[in-house]
Amino acid sequence: MWQRIRNGLETRIGLEDLIRTKLKRYSVPRNTNIFYTLGGVALAAFIIQAVTGFFLLIYYVPHSDHAFRSVQQIMTSVPYGWLFRLMHVVGGNLIVAVVFLHMLSVFFMGSYKKPRELTWVAGWLMLLVVLTFSLSGYLLPWSQLSYWTTTVVTAMPTTFPYVGDYIANVLRGGEFVSGVTLNRFFALHVALLPPILVLLMVVHIFLIRRIGLSSPPFGEQAEKAEPWNEYRHVSYPDGYSFYPYFVLKELYMVLIYLVIMFFIITFVPTLFLPEGANIPADPLKTPAYIKPQWYFLAPYQMLKLIPNKFLGISIQLFLVGMFILWPFFDTKPERNILKRPLLLATFMASLLLWVVLTIWGRSS
Ligand code: HEM
Repeated sequence: MWQRIRNGLETRIGLEDLIRTKLKRYSVPRNTNIFYTLGGVALAAFIIQAVTGFFLLIYYVPHSDHAFRSVQQIMTSVPYGWLFRLMHVVGGNLIVAVVFLHMLSVFFMGSYKKPRELTWVAGWLMLLVVLTFSLSGYLLPWSQLSYWTTTVVTAMPTTFPYVGDYIANVLRGGEFVSGVTLNRFFALHVALLPPILVLLMVVHIFLIRRIGLSSPPFGEQAEKAEPWNEYRHVSYPDGYSFYPYFVLKELYMVLIYLVIMFFIITFVPTLFLPEGANIPADPLKTPAYIKPQWYFLAPYQMLKLIPNKFLGISIQLFLVGMFILWPFFDTKPERNILKRPLLLATFMASLLLWVVLTIWGRSS
């Protein structure tokens, strides 16, 4: 049966030739480390989010009167509903961790440099879309946690003069978070963001495939920094084929991703569902304290420390903009960060600051 399908495809589209020329002949450097698989893991994580999200959509009701109850029903009455919901909630956190790690490793290995600047920019845009997925998804269960976190977040633009109130009102569909906001965030989460992310992924992967993977800048086999004055495809005659070797490496890491996910679901299922997530939204009762997700704790704590909110948000927007365009500022051909002490020190100090602010934000 399988052989007949294969033969049928072979006659019509030349399957063997396709696999040989596009996958097997696509070479990957021999010295790739596990960090090179993180992009593939992020892709798999997105597919898991899309599939589990689809199943949740069958029972979820996007209305402020029913949303909370429908989510509770998914957890208690729908067969395997709890599994799909927990996979989606835990996966929503893990995907951010994987994309962060992918970005950090790409930065550390200097893979954002010429000719890969656009790959980096597309990656950053994907990171922003992933974070917007998370913000919009957080409101959907219509719990106290959802409601009040969204209230805090959507109030942020109001610190900007002239346009701030307008932006906040467009986001919320009024002066307060309400059923209208829920519908807006739902539309964003299920209809607008998925095609944008898919499109960016296509661009990202096209660029990687067209240019060829970079090789790690460390060790004896480090790629010589040859000047890049015109287009060429980077290939590695002494490397190994993308398929099946690199694909198998990536699948192995995807399995580890799944192990972490199911470990959390089995042993700490409430890790990402604190108490406020189980209480229906009440616009008249502000909870004692409200905390954003772990990956927003650092910017949140930074905003608390800077008394002028306008200044705080402006600094953060400036930093994000600078990071997106970083490859266009850092044009030195040297990719090995270990040979650039100032950049290495700044990188490590920023990472440490991020960790300290996150822990501080969690405990304060
Ligand atoms: C949903 C998010 C993302 C997905 C699915 C994704 C996917 C991938 C894949 C499959 C690769 C090739 C293998 C690898 O190096 O891991 C890759 C490479 C790359 N990614 Fe991403 N990525 C994402 C986010 C990002 C982000 C946030 C950045 C940086 C801001 C980024 C920058 C890059 C760069 C520069 C490369 C080329 C690395 C090289 O040639 O060595 N990506 N990405």
